[in-house]
Amino acid sequence: MPAFPKGEEIAQIELHSLHLRDGLHISTALLSDAEKARAAAFRSRDAARLFIAGRLLCRSIIGNMIGCAPQALTISLTPHGRPYLPDHTDIDFNLSHTKNRVALAVCRGGRVGIDIEQPDRISETEVLEIMPLILCERELDDIQRQPPEQRHRTFLSYWVRKEAVLKCRGRGFLDDPRGIALEPADTTENMSNRAFDAANFIRFGSCRSENAPNFLWAVAASQMLSEPVWQQHPDVGSLIGDCLKLK
Ligand SMILES: CC(C)(COP(=O)(O)OP(=O)(O)OC[C@H]1O[C@@H](n2cnc3c(N)ncnc32)[C@H](O)[C@@H]1OP(=O)(O)O)[C@@H](O)C(=O)NCCC(=O)NCCS
Repeated sequence: MPAFPKGEEIAQIELHSLHLRDGLHISTALLSDAEKARAAAFRSRDAARLFIAGRLLCRSIIGNMIGCAPQALTISLTPHGRPYLPDHTDIDFNLSHTKNRVALAVCRGGRVGIDIEQPDRISETEVLEIMPLILCERELDDIQRQPPEQRHRTFLSYWVRKEAVLKCRGRGFLDDPRGIALEPADTTENMSNRAFDAANFIRFGSCRSENAPNFLWAVAASQMLSEPVWQQHPDVGSLIGDCLKLK
């Protein structure tokens, strides 16, 4: 994987994801003491696995990018729980997980937020309950105009983009998602570069694979030095495989 050239006045965003296949052993060996303590405190084994995998993913990818060992990276948390790199303020990153998938966005020259969702994790009934809490009036009208069979997916496309923006800002759902108004046309997959409030760039798409569950993803970026150059990488299991297997 090519490292970002340091000092260039070009904003760059890398996207990585990892599918946690059944039976994959994930070790905490490369995590900090605070991360190990947090991993041990999860009541759900699946939630602990996702947390550990996320930290392994960002430590491996960012460590490789800046030329330091994964375990040497210091990751701090803002008061709202957003992880960041206090020693590398030119690099921002964000993580998201759903079921057995972890995704990472790493950004040089700006701020980034990412969200992934697995469409079949949210039922039609749940969508109807959540929708008025997430969408503004115009977006609700847009959904009502859709054929019923498309509404679930259209709602999720709004959801992932809004959550990516909220995570980019750093306060998550402490901010009201209804305050972020997306254009109906922004539901087009793989759109990018729409001028947009505090998030200047949004990318959105879906991943389908025969061996892993499908998922929707969105990445929002703000405070960019320039229009970002995007790099989307395939599943990085092979790159960080050694870290995952460490006992
Ligand atoms: C941020 C938030 C949207 C994440 O929701 P989620 O359903 O867990 O969604 P995702 O899987 O997409 O994201 C989780 C990851 O987002 C990152 N994250 C956590 N807080 C964040 C924040 N305030 N802003 C941006 N990213 C954040 C973390 O990397 C986290 O994964 P990790 O804990 O395994 O490292 C949600 O927790 C929220 O709205 N939080 C509000 C802030 C808050 O309540 N903080 C309390 C802790 S101090």
